[in-house]
Amino acid sequence: MCAQRLVLWFQALLISLQWGVVFADAETDYNQTCAACHSLGVAGAPRIGDAGAWKDRIARGNDALFKNAINGYTGESGVMPPKGGFNDLSDDQVREIVIYMVSRSLDE
Ligand code: HEC
Repeated sequence: MCAQRLVLWFQALLISLQWGVVFADAETDYNQTCAACHSLGVAGAPRIGDAGAWKDRIARGNDALFKNAINGYTGESGVMPPKGGFNDLSDDQVREIVIYMVSRSLDE
């Protein structure tokens, strides 16, 4: 658990070094909101970094992911609340977070 956190933290650090400011914001937003479910896979949420859980979703295209993240939906594994339940996030913020999540979950 602790080691896993360290690895996640290190990956996040690398990503933010690589992608700079754009992702720094999205990453902070992610950590304060979506991470509650998506970091550990709570309630059937696809875990960030789990390429297998994201492959088919990513294949449907960003627009489909944006729409489902913003409006919410019920899928085979669980319920994704609209904006994760964080209505203060703008649609653009949610889109940036989704791109961040996808970038962390690609099959290398
Ligand atoms: C309460 C838990 C919870 C929170 C908080 C949450 N999600 Fe989810 N999310 C889920 C679950 C569960 C699924 C999978 C639903 C399914 O496919 O059955 C999901 C799926 C997704 C997907 C995949 C959509 C698709 O079309 O396959 C995206 C993208 C996503 N969430 C983005 C976000 C973003 C961005 C946030 C933060 C703003 C967020 N989630 C917060 C539970 C959550």
